[in-house]
Amino acid sequence: MECIVINGQNPLRGKISINGAKNAAVAILPVAIAAGDVCIIDNVPQIEDVACMVEAMESMGVICAEMTKHTLYIDARNMTSQTLSERLAQNLRASYYFMGAMLGRFKRAEVPLPGGCDLGARPIDYHLKGFTALGATCTTEHGTVKLHAEKLTGANIYLDCPSVGATINIMMAAVFAEGKTLIENAAKEPHVVDAASFLNKLGAKIHGAGTATIRITGVPALGGGEYTVLPDPIEAGTYMIAAAITAGDVTVENIIPKHLETVSAKLRETGCIIEEGEDWLNVKGIESLRPCEIKTAYYPGFPTDLQPQIAALLSVANGISHVTENVFEQRFRYVGELKRLGAHIKMAGRTAVITGPRLLTGAQVSATDLRAGAALVIAGLNAKGQTVITNVEHLDRGYEDLEGRLRSLGADITRCSQLPSASQ
Ligand code: EPZ
Repeated sequence: MECIVINGQNPLRGKISINGAKNAAVAILPVAIAAGDVCIIDNVPQIEDVACMVEAMESMGVICAEMTKHTLYIDARNMTSQTLSERLAQNLRASYYFMGAMLGRFKRAEVPLPGGCDLGARPIDYHLKGFTALGATCTTEHGTVKLHAEKLTGANIYLDCPSVGATINIMMAAVFAEGKTLIENAAKEPHVVDAASFLNKLGAKIHGAGTATIRITGVPALGGGEYTVLPDPIEAGTYMIAAAITAGDVTVENIIPKHLETVSAKLRETGCIIEEGEDWLNVKGIESLRPCEIKTAYYPGFPTDLQPQIAALLSVANGISHVTENVFEQRFRYVGELKRLGAHIKMAGRTAVITGPRLLTGAQVSATDLRAGAALVIAGLNAKGQTVITNVEHLDRGYEDLEGRLRSLGADITRCSQLPSASQ
């Protein structure tokens, strides 16, 4: 059983260059399917979710080739199918993007319901409501969504909540809808803007991405082009929190500091010193952190994808903190595992009440999903003794070479092909 072994209490020090954003890359690759010509995508992170998207695209006849470690050549001009297999769709959440891309360009798509992290019910009803509003017939049979449209016609679409996936998916179909489409209460996340910027580069007419109201004027087809994926604010935030919990001194480079404003603000509240440059942030941790209140929210609020990680940090802060999850139904499955490392956390509805300071001590723990795994790594970096993390495949979905990059900052962390003898 592959696992990660950490001997904690090394302060992290040094610089780390941040990769392209997972949640932008997995939206931008399907955009290349909607394109009518070759696309070249740069700054693509080497993570499992991207590999799964490439495998899914190749299964439908898209030509994908690695030009460099982080640059993909994509040619969807001669796609042979608009039907995705259940095995490939189940690998990740972002497979739902093939619905919007193929419905838009081909007016048909057969895509099984997606997989992804278990964060409670994660329906796609807003996506399907949007496709239907654009004129598609939409049926779900045996777990596969079947979409078809004679033609797509612009519509006014209101999202009951600013869903990232629904916003991007509906946008991908609407760029081909005759006339005008209005998406209201749209998600404002940076990767929504990234997807819209790439679509516009290919010839789409999208205005207002990054605000709650997106206006789209349909075009008959898109061309090809090149695009560079934006830096990953969640990867950057994960390393910033790791620096904080080890009282380290780390600079995250090649980022957009504005995308991390709430994370920097919260780390400052705990007493960390944050210095900001044009495309970098430096985090200096302190020995005795202050508690703080976290309420996750849609962008530009505190990102839900850093909620488990900051909960790990607050487990060692001096006092009582409250972490409230407002985006997903269930994003606290990591709490039991953090408590095995010595954290003192009590649940009160959607709020984790965290009491510190606690001396975390190493133990064997299990990653229950991608960001829960990151929280356990962060706690292990602080814990006294050895922490063994199993189910590390979750981490590989969203972090490129996490151990190697943490080792470059001074962490004592390795990946083992089987449990250390002491843990067996
Ligand atoms: C995207 O998930 C990200 N995944 C998530 O990142 C991220 O946490 C989330 O956006 C919020 O920022 C990808 O981009 C691949 P939502 P998504 O639609 O699109 C409900 C990570 O760790 N909802 O914004 O699934 C939904 O249940 C992952 O990198 C509906 O009810 O998120 C949730 O409660 C985890 N019906 C809320 O809206 C719908 O049709 C927000 O979901 C769609 C969503």
